[in-house]
Amino acid sequence: MLIGEPTYRLVRGAVEVEPVEPLELKGKSERVPAYRLLSVRSGAMLPRRLDAPLVGREAELALLGDALARASAAGSARMVTVVAHAGVGKTRLLAEFLRSASREATVLRGHCLPYGEGITFWPLTEIVHDAGGIGEDDTPDQALAKLRAVVADEPDLVTERLATVLGLGEREFPVEELFWASRKLFESLARERPLVVVFEDIHWAEPTLLALVEHLVDNADAPLLVLCTARPDLLEVHGEWSESASAQRVELQALSTDQAGALVDNLLGSELDRGARRRIAEAAEGNPLFVEQMVSMWIESGLLVQRDGGWVPAADLSAVDVPPTIQALLAARLDRLNRDERGVIEPAAVVGRVFYRGAVETMTADELRAELDALLGALIRKEFVAPDHDTTLPGEDTYRFHHVLIRDAAYQGLLKRARADLHERAAEWLAAAMGPRVVEVEEIMGYHLERAFRYRDELGPLDDHAHRVGVRASTLLGASGRRALARGDMPAAANLLRRASGLLPRTDPRRLHLLPDLGEVLLELGEFQEAEALLSEAILEGARAGDRRLETEATLVRLAVRFAGSPDSLGPSVVRDVERALAESEKLGDHRGIAKAYRLLGTIHGTVAHYEEAERATLRTIEHARLAGDQMLEVRNFPPYAIVAAYGPRPISEALERCEELLPAAQGDRRTQAVVLCVLSHLHAMQGSFDEARREYRRAQVMLDDLGVKVLAASTSLDSGPVEMLAGDPAGAERELRRDLDRLEAMGERFLASSVTAYLAQAVVAQGRMDEAEALSRKCEEVVLADDAEAQSIWRRVRALAIVDRGEDRQAAKLAREAVEIIRRTDSPVLQADALVDAAEILQKAGWDAEGEPLLTEALDLYERKGDLVGAARAREALSRRATLGTPDLAGG
Ligand SMILES: Nc1ncnc2c1ncn2[C@@H]1O[C@H](COP(=O)(O)OP(=O)(O)OP(=O)(O)O)[C@@H](O)[C@H]1O
Ligand SMILES: [Mg+2]
Repeated sequence: MLIGEPTYRLVRGAVEVEPVEPLELKGKSERVPAYRLLSVRSGAMLPRRLDAPLVGREAELALLGDALARASAAGSARMVTVVAHAGVGKTRLLAEFLRSASREATVLRGHCLPYGEGITFWPLTEIVHDAGGIGEDDTPDQALAKLRAVVADEPDLVTERLATVLGLGEREFPVEELFWASRKLFESLARERPLVVVFEDIHWAEPTLLALVEHLVDNADAPLLVLCTARPDLLEVHGEWSESASAQRVELQALSTDQAGALVDNLLGSELDRGARRRIAEAAEGNPLFVEQMVSMWIESGLLVQRDGGWVPAADLSAVDVPPTIQALLAARLDRLNRDERGVIEPAAVVGRVFYRGAVETMTADELRAELDALLGALIRKEFVAPDHDTTLPGEDTYRFHHVLIRDAAYQGLLKRARADLHERAAEWLAAAMGPRVVEVEEIMGYHLERAFRYRDELGPLDDHAHRVGVRASTLLGASGRRALARGDMPAAANLLRRASGLLPRTDPRRLHLLPDLGEVLLELGEFQEAEALLSEAILEGARAGDRRLETEATLVRLAVRFAGSPDSLGPSVVRDVERALAESEKLGDHRGIAKAYRLLGTIHGTVAHYEEAERATLRTIEHARLAGDQMLEVRNFPPYAIVAAYGPRPISEALERCEELLPAAQGDRRTQAVVLCVLSHLHAMQGSFDEARREYRRAQVMLDDLGVKVLAASTSLDSGPVEMLAGDPAGAERELRRDLDRLEAMGERFLASSVTAYLAQAVVAQGRMDEAEALSRKCEEVVLADDAEAQSIWRRVRALAIVDRGEDRQAAKLAREAVEIIRRTDSPVLQADALVDAAEILQKAGWDAEGEPLLTEALDLYERKGDLVGAARAREALSRRATLGTPDLAGG
């Protein structure tokens, strides 16, 4: 009998062959290698049990089929998450479903990695490989060309972004851009036929991957079914998972005793004695993995024997001990392996759920190497592992554990010292095998070395070698942590940087230099206490070691943490501290330090609406971040800069020029570009260039909608509303604002909603709908923050305008005066001037015209200095109206 290469690969441990002349086959241009089967090694003919037919699950299959049908019919995305404990059959259920679904849909699959390696986008990497049909032998250029070929919309942008997910990109993109690119890829594929994307084991997913999945389901505009599997741990941490209207959760139940019994028969291919069958079914408590493993164990240990084509008990099985848990059962099965087999399965378990023959070869004892294939064959026959294919490492034979719990059980069987050595060797092998592409697996290498270090640490005092292992691990994890930070993937950055710092002695300078970045990440995540503690350590140790740079940078980040923790109680005292640190950074010529000092100054001034100083500080932040080569710090400060430049005293023409320069510098980050565009739009409107202003805010809206950044996309009316008001179209402004308010309220967003409500109240009062305006002003009063000077001033003016005509003069005048007083706490010319113009009108109507007149003159001056042509024209017009009308008729007011 002749067998081909693929078959040989599958069974080579179990058979003996001799190579024959390569064969010429129909339809193949090249000859294919072939082997003559000489003999099958003894024991190799156990039945193939583990592909026994599916038992039960009819309802779940129907539900999945229905979800796909609904996604296809509606042309939109749906998600189903299958939740169950280990071994209950999530993966199997999906496999069964996908077998039939793949007739009508394209199927892509990715798996989360189990051991905390911290690679956020690993499953996406697998999926993208799958989607592009990228094979092991493709060069980077070929891989990208293949990917590009399947993307219909904006293939260049999408490919450039996904290249970084494949480890082929030069630069980092913000996570929103990666989300967008993944969605575009899926939408392209789903245009041909419905698409099913599977994310397996999301209880191990990094938080940002979960965010990606939610983004896909919320935004994809194509027939897409996202399927996830998860153990119940997921819901302990993310209880709200999968609760949107387009998502469903299926809690997969254990099999019934009858079903488990049927599975026993299916596995054996014949009916088993009823008592024995019950014994298994009951012990397994409906867990099919348990059933499988029990059957295997009884066969291996001779408790079941083959007779007359079926299996029969060799003893009274009702009295045989049954392991209490699946883990104990797997451990018992592994105990039955001989020493040599264990010598192979254990290193394999250290490599991971998926492992490479080459890795195991270098990790096993010398005397086992010659026998490696035979031993792997034995493990395949006993169904602990199976051949697999994987595209990470070209040319490497790959295997996977039949179930991750088998891997875990094999790993558990190892002593700590052995684990330490094996992890280290796994890392060495990986480094050698990946060669120049090692950066793609930096986190995995870091993980192995981290494990090696940790086990040595638990065993006793660390020697030099162990220290070096710790340092290498830390370097790798630190580098990946910084890359995660550059993408804005803060949860992953925190995970990686924490681990990197935990591997080094407390006062090691390499550890201390990780702390400012870790502090930044923790600040972003709101973990103030941990940040404070770590930064204090860095400051103390930096001072002790005379490392001024470290001390200063850590001081600045700690000040930022403290300010974020209590912005009200700090204030001037922080400014003095920041200025001291700034002087120090300047002396050291440390641009990053300088940038961080200015950033904090910008935040502090911005918080109290001192726009002039905030603008100056934020501009310096950008300049010094650029000089320091810190692109992330630079670009992240564009939006705050644009906003304070627009509000502050810098003349519009100059603010415009600067914001226009920011646009190209933010390339590849459309979220930032869109915010800058909105500000540009507002500035142009103040100059009276309404066509341009409208073009800009619409462009920003399209960008943000397309990116799927929901909250931001629902707040562009904070600029488009005022633009329409400046253009003299309050009805248009109302439309913009209402659309956003509805969206924000639907999301439960409150902070931005209060500003939108204030603007909406203005648009309504401008259209003379006084009762409605008053109601809106009350709504705004209820939700607005105490220190939001703009909204606090606006609701008072709207209320006053709404009531002044119905005779509540005193109250209206009082509100107008308060509105002016509040806004004078800011140094914003436009905010002040707008308030002054309103107040003048209210006071005039209320009979205090003499008090109003100077306000108008002041407003005109402010508008003119800012270069707000539209505002200035209005103030001038109001002034001239007064001049022609003379003193209003007080009796009529
Ligand atoms: N309904 C079923 N009928 C027959 N065999 C099943 C059934 N459900 C699961 N199995 C088998 O049980 C074993 C464990 O199932 P599976 O791997 O799907 O579990 P899982 O829920 O995905 O576990 P984990 O959480 O560890 O990933 C597999 O070998 C699978 O083929
Ligand atoms: Mg599974």
